[in-house]
Amino acid sequence: MTKTRDEKVLELYEQLLEIEQRLIPTGLHVFGRPSPPRERGDLLKAIASFDRPEAGLRALPEEFADEAIREFVANGADAAVHCLEQRGLAAETTRPVFALLENVSTKLETNTEIDSLVRALRGEFIEPGPGADIVQNPDILPTGRNTHALNPYGVPSAVAFARGKIVASSLLNRYKEENGRYPEAMALVLWGLDNIKTQGEGVAQALWLLGVRPVRDALNRATDVEVISLEELGRPRIDVVMTVSGIFRDLFSPTVHLLDKAVRLAASLDEPLDENYVRKHVLEQIAQDNCDADEAATRVFSNAPGNYGTNVNFMVMDSQWEREETLGDLFVTRKCFAYGRDSKGQTIEGREARIAMDRALSRVEATYQNIDTFEIGLTDVDHYFEYLGGVSKAVEKRAQARPSIYLSDSLSRDVKIRSLEETVRLETRAKTLNPKWYEGMLQHGFRGVAEIENRVSNTFGWSATADAVDDWIYSEVANTFVFDESMLERLKELNPHSAHALVQRLLEAHGRGYWETDPDVLEKLQEISHDLEDQLEGVA
Ligand code: BEZ
Ligand code: MG
Repeated sequence: MTKTRDEKVLELYEQLLEIEQRLIPTGLHVFGRPSPPRERGDLLKAIASFDRPEAGLRALPEEFADEAIREFVANGADAAVHCLEQRGLAAETTRPVFALLENVSTKLETNTEIDSLVRALRGEFIEPGPGADIVQNPDILPTGRNTHALNPYGVPSAVAFARGKIVASSLLNRYKEENGRYPEAMALVLWGLDNIKTQGEGVAQALWLLGVRPVRDALNRATDVEVISLEELGRPRIDVVMTVSGIFRDLFSPTVHLLDKAVRLAASLDEPLDENYVRKHVLEQIAQDNCDADEAATRVFSNAPGNYGTNVNFMVMDSQWEREETLGDLFVTRKCFAYGRDSKGQTIEGREARIAMDRALSRVEATYQNIDTFEIGLTDVDHYFEYLGGVSKAVEKRAQARPSIYLSDSLSRDVKIRSLEETVRLETRAKTLNPKWYEGMLQHGFRGVAEIENRVSNTFGWSATADAVDDWIYSEVANTFVFDESMLERLKELNPHSAHALVQRLLEAHGRGYWETDPDVLEKLQEISHDLEDQLEGVA
């Protein structure tokens, strides 16, 4: 079916709106310095867009939020309340929202980081404060306190489970729209800090996919799981392979056991195999490998005890690889350690289980990670591609098909599932190529150029691990940062090392087949690269 002109225009409008509304950090945090008041409006608006039942707060209605926040920033809480009263909103409901925003604004102007650091070095007491995302939990302010995590037995919280259910359902629907059926198995990446910030949304998503819910004991600790009936689920139980970070393993040991228990419970259910893919796969594996049920139901993997990270990021950044499949193999080598408890109640604490992991990944059809904060996205750090990219590349070889790769974020009130390719495009438009973002970075001089180069390299990481970067992205990076003469001059001036690394990365993207472009573009890049080398060596 071809789209009408109006449908296309609407789609374009929606995409533009999405880019425009995306919160992006403009510049780096400077230790000890409060955040500047400009552009605080967007953050305040995001904070005001969440219902906070625990504090008796209702989100500001979207249609009035912009105006009300502008009024608040310019003239204070009373003026904003008054402005909304004229729109028919009762002062009793809006006043508490602005009281919260006033509190946040005041705390953003306070910064005791240096003082706290000095006190910490003297071994003195530092006031504790929760670690969370600022929009989801403004109580993290002021900064400069001793960040504490949360009680792992509280994960997933009721709110996280309710949301996890919606996100996981949307994820399955998206896969079904594209493939005509549900995936039999998925691989999820779970991180520690994310699950602290969201109180376990990632954990909740995994449980919901398996079709179980957490059960709390007399002390209100989530130590058990119970089955959600197939009628209630309205779909098959999905097999879930979980690769958890070393931080998650360390912080959420009870949760690791909960997840492992959930898989074993799902596998034990006497249900038709086309409605319980966990059981189906466990039985298949027992038959295929002649292994025991414990081995066949291993689904929670992390690093060896005391070990962290996949090293896929280092291998990519150092260009120390020839074939992409090496990156996926490295991921498995680092992450093939099983955690949980076997049927005899014996704790498994990082037993090497490479074959079990290979088998589990060989059935995966979709991979997924939840993004917990607007501060750090897919191309801000090398960790997303090392994990989600790494596991996807490992699946590609073992399943002999590239999985569908998805992300979603806990950033806004609506749930939005995006493919990896869509997310890379969105990040590129909202950040990398957005003058608001790169000019913010360039104000930090040397470090800012390094951040730009990092982002380009992290984008490249998505080519290496998942072939998820369009040609236009590299072309526009080249146009914006290299072929714009005055920009190139600025980069060279501020940080010629990073400018050179950026040009080299573009050449590498072409060399490895990720970027098709004209020979004259490459020639120009080569030339600029040589000039930069001369400058670095002090020849020019
Ligand atoms: C984590 O929170 O588990 C995590 C953060 C950054 C990189 C890898 C893992
Ligand atoms: Mg391509």
